[in-house]
Amino acid sequence: MTPTDIPTRAPDFAALLAGCPKAELHIHIEGSLEPELIFALAARNGVALAYPSIEALRAAYAFSDLQSFLDIYYAGASVLLVEDDFFDMAWAYYQRAAADGVRRAELFFDPQTHTERGVDMGTVIRGLARAGAQAERELGVSNALILCFLRHLSEDAALATLDAALPYREHFIGVGLDSSERGHPPEKFARVFARCRALGLHVVAHAGEEGPPAYIHSALDVLEVERIDHGVRCVEDPALVARLAAERMPLTVCPLSNVKLCVFPTLADHNLKALLDAGLVATINSDDPAYFGGYLNANWLATFAALPSLTREDAQTLALNSFEASFAPAADKARWQAEVRAWFASAAG
Ligand code: ADE
Ligand code: ZN
Repeated sequence: MTPTDIPTRAPDFAALLAGCPKAELHIHIEGSLEPELIFALAARNGVALAYPSIEALRAAYAFSDLQSFLDIYYAGASVLLVEDDFFDMAWAYYQRAAADGVRRAELFFDPQTHTERGVDMGTVIRGLARAGAQAERELGVSNALILCFLRHLSEDAALATLDAALPYREHFIGVGLDSSERGHPPEKFARVFARCRALGLHVVAHAGEEGPPAYIHSALDVLEVERIDHGVRCVEDPALVARLAAERMPLTVCPLSNVKLCVFPTLADHNLKALLDAGLVATINSDDPAYFGGYLNANWLATFAALPSLTREDAQTLALNSFEASFAPAADKARWQAEVRAWFASAAG
């Protein structure tokens, strides 16, 4: 079903959503590695893969939870060895993002996935930064990098990763926390996040994807994050919902990801509408689009198709929220938000 199939929706509703200017704030760039590019890079670099074909690899994308996905995701990233590999991966993403109306993209990257295999930090960051500069120049997509620490590893490993990245400080604006959530609460990374804040880096963390509301509390209170990545389990704690709304704390929600990783049984069960109705600054994002069934507009269209209660006003709010929650300069955010209002004022649908 598409959004235009829903009787209460105007025929142009899908075009309204697809053409709307947006920001993407939760995309793991390693999660944009399409099977075709994995095979091309494996051949280019002489890396052996555990799957005989692109089709066999894609067929393995049936996940039961976050960990079952991460095992395949880290294996896919093993084909990334030289600077051009990181460039090619990010450039492919930026082209898709531009086609989806993305004006601003803040990309997560997982340096430990690469440095643990002997790839130099500079190789990773230079390749990603070069693609970002080209995206700004040729596609008009404003962008920035956010370095994520892998939470299944130690805080000492995160501190060493930060040290290794600091020579490239001008190429990233913040840090995040990702990988296996259960059993690895935010407070495990209190010292490294304090250091990052002192360095003037923005701070975000995955919390409340599979982990309990308590992890959202400690991301706020201990790590002092500026956005919560996912956060959908906040609804289990009404006082937390009230706090998130009062603080206008953004949630970077990833609907297709949540279904693929069995956080919700189907998209029709997703709580995005409830989050918006509670006054939360929710946004729509793709997380790992090559693994979860699509890029940003695929998430927008599938979510609106599955949740007929989402209105045209909700769509405008989601787009405005995405810019409000971004770390772009205030003047850029205001310009993009004016563009969103003009789009909804003039577009049919
Ligand atoms: N790394 C890549 N995708 C992730 C997700 N959805 N949750 C945690 N870590 C991730
Ligand atoms: Zn994520």
